[in-house]
Amino acid sequence: MANAGSGANPMVEVEDLRKSYGPIRAVDGIGFAVAEGEVFGLLGHNGAGKTTTIRMLTGRTRPTGGTARVVGFDVAAERDRVKPLINLVFEDQNLYERFSGRDNLRLFADLYRAPKERVAALLAEMDLTEAGGRKVKTYSTGMKQRLLIARALINRPRVLFLDEPTRGLDPASARDLRRLVARLGAAGTTVFLTTHDMEEADELCHRVAFLSRGKLVALDAPRELKLRYGKREAAVLLDDRTEPTVRLDDPADAARLAAWMEAGRVLAIHSQEGTLEDVFIALAGRPL
Ligand SMILES: Nc1ncnc2c1ncn2[C@@H]1O[C@H](COP(=O)(O)OP(=O)(O)OP(=O)(O)O)[C@@H](O)[C@H]1O
Ligand SMILES: [Mg+2]
Repeated sequence: MANAGSGANPMVEVEDLRKSYGPIRAVDGIGFAVAEGEVFGLLGHNGAGKTTTIRMLTGRTRPTGGTARVVGFDVAAERDRVKPLINLVFEDQNLYERFSGRDNLRLFADLYRAPKERVAALLAEMDLTEAGGRKVKTYSTGMKQRLLIARALINRPRVLFLDEPTRGLDPASARDLRRLVARLGAAGTTVFLTTHDMEEADELCHRVAFLSRGKLVALDAPRELKLRYGKREAAVLLDDRTEPTVRLDDPADAARLAAWMEAGRVLAIHSQEGTLEDVFIALAGRPL
C-alpha cells in the first residue's frame, strides 16, 4: 500500500506542474503519480495551491507549465477525453434546490447517458433512498454533500476528485462521509482529495502529499511520514505511578530505561508514532 503510487497503472501522472496568477506562483513545479484504486490526499495551509492543483487535473484551468495526465490523457491537450472518465465534487457546485434529490440525479444520468437504475442504486449507496423524493432545499449539509458525491459517481468515474469533502460537516456527518469515501476506494475507485483535517487524511489516505506555498514538501504513506518525522518517544509507567517520557533515540534515556527495568519498576510502556500534525509542523514550521 505504501508504494501504491509507483504501480504500473497510474491514473494521475504529474510532472513539474505549474500555475501562476500574475506574480503569484499558486502551484510551483510539483510532480507525483497516483495509482489505480489509491486514495490520495493533498494537504496544506490555506492558499497552498490544493484547489488550483485539482482545478488543473480536472481541466477547469490550464497549467502555466509542466504536464498532467489523468487516465492516460493530457489534461490540457486532451481535455475532452479526460472529462467523461473523471468526476469531481467542488464547494462551488450547485444542486437544483427546488428539485428532489432523485430528480437531480436523473438530470445528470440523462446528461451522461447513464442507465436509469443507476439513480436508485446511488441513492441507496449514499443512504438517501428515503430522502430521495424530497426537495433538496430541505436537505442538511451532510445530505447535500452525499448527493453531490452520488451525482459525481453517475458516470462511474475512474478518478473521483473531492475538494475538501468534509468541510462544513459536523463530526458525525464527516465520519459518515469518510466511511463512504473509504468504501469507494475499497471498491476500486481512485480518489484524489484535499483536506485540512490531518486525522481524516491519516484514516483515509493510502498516501498523502504536503503542499506548502505551491511546492511539495513530503509525499508518502501516513505511517511512513509519522515514523520518519514524528517524535520517537515513549511514556514509561513506573511502580510509583509516575510516567516519565523517554526518547527512543537517546542513549542516556536507554540507560535510564534499562535501570528501571532491571529494578523491576516498569509497569507499562506506551509508545506513540506521533500524528500527521507533528509531521506537518516538522516540515512546515507551523500547524495546519
Ligand atoms: N483565479 C485566481 N486568481 C488569482 N489568484 C488565485 C486564483 N486562484 C487561486 N489564486 C491564488 O493561488 C494561491 C493558491 O490558491 P488555492 O485556492 O489553490 O489554495 P488552497 O490550497 O486550495 O487553499 P484553501 O485551503 O484556502 O482552499 C493563493 O495565493 C490564491 O490566492
Ligand atoms: Mg482550496
